[in-house]
Amino acid sequence: MNQTINQNLGQTIKLNDPSLLQTQAFIDGQWINADSNETLPVINPANNQLLASVAKCGQSETRRMIDAAHRAQKLWATTTAKERARLLRNWYELIINNQEDLAQIITAEQGKPLSESRAEITYGSNYVEWFSEEAKRIYGDLIPAPTANKRLMVLKQPVGVVACITPWNFPNAMLTRKIAPALAAGCTVVCKPASATPLSALALVYLAEKAGIPKGVVNIVVGNTQEIGDELTSNPLVKKLTFTGSTQIGKQLIEKCADTVKRTSMELGGNAPFIVFENADIDAAVEGAVASKYRNAGQTCVCSNRLLVQASVYEEFTKKLALAVKLLKLGNGSDNNTNIGPLIDKKAAEDVCNLIDDAVSKGAQIVTGGARAEAGDNFVQPTILTDVSPEMRLFSEEIFGPVAPLIKFETEEEAVELANDTEFGLAAYFYSQNNNQIWRVSEQLEFGIVGVNEGIISNEMAPFGGIKESGQGREGSKYGLDDYLELKYVCLGGIE
Ligand code: SIN
Repeated sequence: MNQTINQNLGQTIKLNDPSLLQTQAFIDGQWINADSNETLPVINPANNQLLASVAKCGQSETRRMIDAAHRAQKLWATTTAKERARLLRNWYELIINNQEDLAQIITAEQGKPLSESRAEITYGSNYVEWFSEEAKRIYGDLIPAPTANKRLMVLKQPVGVVACITPWNFPNAMLTRKIAPALAAGCTVVCKPASATPLSALALVYLAEKAGIPKGVVNIVVGNTQEIGDELTSNPLVKKLTFTGSTQIGKQLIEKCADTVKRTSMELGGNAPFIVFENADIDAAVEGAVASKYRNAGQTCVCSNRLLVQASVYEEFTKKLALAVKLLKLGNGSDNNTNIGPLIDKKAAEDVCNLIDDAVSKGAQIVTGGARAEAGDNFVQPTILTDVSPEMRLFSEEIFGPVAPLIKFETEEEAVELANDTEFGLAAYFYSQNNNQIWRVSEQLEFGIVGVNEGIISNEMAPFGGIKESGQGREGSKYGLDDYLELKYVCLGGIE
């Protein structure tokens, strides 16, 4: 490990265990520099300060990492489920024991408030705990045979080497959500975290090594996105790619994986409607809207993107939402009283402001916020817009920022039609106290996840994933292992 870099890091991120700050790639049980010795800067989005320089890898390191994972695959697949469960449990416990340090790393490199970073470590580690338990429940099947002299069986076997490409918005949880089920199923992994937030991922892999997970089973590189991505998608030794990120990149990856017919799991963009019906508990709806809209400064795929409010409660909801949003404190995530941190970088802040400007130029009204914040280049004020209509870009585009666009509707049919009027199908929310309406609308919404009278829907026990252009496959839950398993049908004949 690079001592000089670590000493610098010690000054910018205060940790109980500075060895969590890894800056090299991890391949076949070894921490290594890039072949070129080049590095990538990691920047704190709250103040644009340099946090670290990490090894900038490319195609050659990626190929070596895939070879290592391939070599480790056979042995790992033959370990007992109980042994894999034990190692995952060790990893889970190490994550929990280092929760505060890992949260500090997330806030430093990603910007979210410390309270949210701590919650992310709990959330992310829950996937490791869950799949350590699920590892022991990978059952096959015995199928009634068409003739008396045959027995038909289904075996479940690991798909093989899995490539995991993860985003910067949840640098810890999006990686555990992929590595844990892969390892539980008996797959080995090659990981490529977002270049903006590699430190959380490297710390997780460091803890996986300490947990006793054998060399070659978990590997990670950071660096040249194009080169690494091209190798991960074209190398025939990689049998599956799992990706969380934008729909645009997801489509490109699916196309590239087609050549070697890799399996893919895609957790892509969203455009979540948040519907408030007139019989809703309005205070609860405001609380849910704040949680679902402003979590992580609006940078989640399941953030509500369009708030559809029935005309008779539109004014009341708008007033109460504005009161709640004005209380949110914007600032550096490491200050304990901050509720909203910066966006990931200046371009992200500019993109969000362009969406606001487009809406305002087409008739939207600013209730609060509406511009960049004084706190710094990467900060956008928590914003509410009214009089929003479908021709504004933010009606159809994922905002990925702290902007709540309010749209008025008259009838349930109109609300459902507006809600479904998108190519995305990840998450939807609605507030209603009418049982019949709750069933009707839940069934009519074309989304993979529906929150009813609830703004926070993510947890390890439930299947997370979307339909339409929001992706394919499910993460977490009892279904989450399926994406990492092949079914093998064995027909045993000649039985007397
Ligand atoms: C995401 O934004 O991709 C994940 C959000 C979550 O897990 O809640």
